[in-house]
Amino acid sequence: MSVVVEATELVVVANRLPVSRGTGGASRRPHGWETSPGGLVGALAPVLSARAGAWVGWPGFLGPVPEPFDHEGMRLHPVALSRSEYELFYEGFSNATLWPLYHDAIRPPEFHQEWWDAYVVVNERYAERAARVAAPNALVWVHDYQLQLVPAMLRSLRPDLRIGFFLHIPYPPPELFMQLPWRHEILDGLLGADVVGFQHPVAAQNFARLAQRVVGVSGSTRTLHHEGRNIDVRAFPISIDVEEVNRIAESPSTAAQASTVRRQLGSPRVMLLGVDRLDYTKGIDLRLLAFQHLLRDRRLDPRECVMVQIAVPSREEVPSYVEQRELIERLVGEINGEFSQMGHPVVHYLHRSLPFDEVVALYQAADVMLVTPLRDGMNLVAKEFVASRVDNGGVLVLSEFAGAARELSSALLVNPHDSEGLETAIESAVSLDPAIARRAMRSMRRKVQRHDVHTWAAEFLAALMPST
Ligand code: F6P
Repeated sequence: MSVVVEATELVVVANRLPVSRGTGGASRRPHGWETSPGGLVGALAPVLSARAGAWVGWPGFLGPVPEPFDHEGMRLHPVALSRSEYELFYEGFSNATLWPLYHDAIRPPEFHQEWWDAYVVVNERYAERAARVAAPNALVWVHDYQLQLVPAMLRSLRPDLRIGFFLHIPYPPPELFMQLPWRHEILDGLLGADVVGFQHPVAAQNFARLAQRVVGVSGSTRTLHHEGRNIDVRAFPISIDVEEVNRIAESPSTAAQASTVRRQLGSPRVMLLGVDRLDYTKGIDLRLLAFQHLLRDRRLDPRECVMVQIAVPSREEVPSYVEQRELIERLVGEINGEFSQMGHPVVHYLHRSLPFDEVVALYQAADVMLVTPLRDGMNLVAKEFVASRVDNGGVLVLSEFAGAARELSSALLVNPHDSEGLETAIESAVSLDPAIARRAMRSMRRKVQRHDVHTWAAEFLAALMPST
């Protein structure tokens, strides 16, 4: 293929573009695109606009896509997906093969040749587009499990590029990864990068060991040697935009909103909170069960305690997500049926996303934050909660299987598979000595403040820069 190169020094390649089509509200942009919320976009947008950067990704709807366009200093290159590619590549191979396999096989991963074939075709499309837009010797930063073949595909089209890859989710231990019929191809794909970054050192080690064992690459677990190149393999734990969270958290309107929430909930003695994408990896069902048992055993008093669960809709056509939603909603119904008073549900369940300032107000209103995934690459909700607690209040119950547990080790760490352990942790969080809780929160806040998403992006890009 002949490659026409546009002058772009830094190219981000991710499954989704950092925008979605506007809804026509007050913030509608001239051509109808709105920047997606989240720290990743906030961190990369300034770096991209400073370097005439580009972002290659899917705009979030099916069928024909617009020509490349400029948005807030970035050149955006939409990649099209057809309905069948969405089903086979996105819902199928990405979210019903790789997602469960990389999350401890909490649900059995499905292996289908036609899903794999679509994954290859779509990865090629992203790689070709990135090859067209990158300037000579540009840096290309590829993101996440949907695009693991892109680094090698891109290298074969454009050997002049420096290619980085960052995996936002866990990388599984060899015993699980070896189940994948296309394990060799996936490893080859990632080995096309110069820097392969992970959330956790264990994930980096898993990858390096697999590359040595399956592909036969040499080198140490930190620097692999492959086809005459060195590949830097290490952890770059992602974080949040601390300054932005602080700005919202310190605003008087957020504090007022937090008090309003408490009043709306009937001014309970204890407010427990969960904020998650509705995903079976998040352990929402297990925390509801733990709450139900604590109420049944009278270890928590339903007249004094309220749980708020925000479940953001996600991957709603994938069968395990449909089942998880049904289970969660049945449990919410059961608990409310058993313990609510007229006009005072004991569980408040919202199946929708909320504006970020409302989420920060919820973080501030909560006494106990429940972050109990069975496996999670990082979990930014845990970090957002900590950053929001400018009052040093609140207690974080955190799964030891979230990447965030490595930094937030002062949280009440739990194994969510251990139902009695989870119940005891929630009970202890509710009655924790406030001085001890404040000390833990202060220590976690220091950690989050020291390492934000801007530091994360800068560290990755520094590793990717060619050494002079
Ligand atoms: O955590 C991995 C991730 O892909 C995030 O990057 C993303 O915000 C989330 O999962 C939801 O992903 P999607 O809606 O694109 O499937």
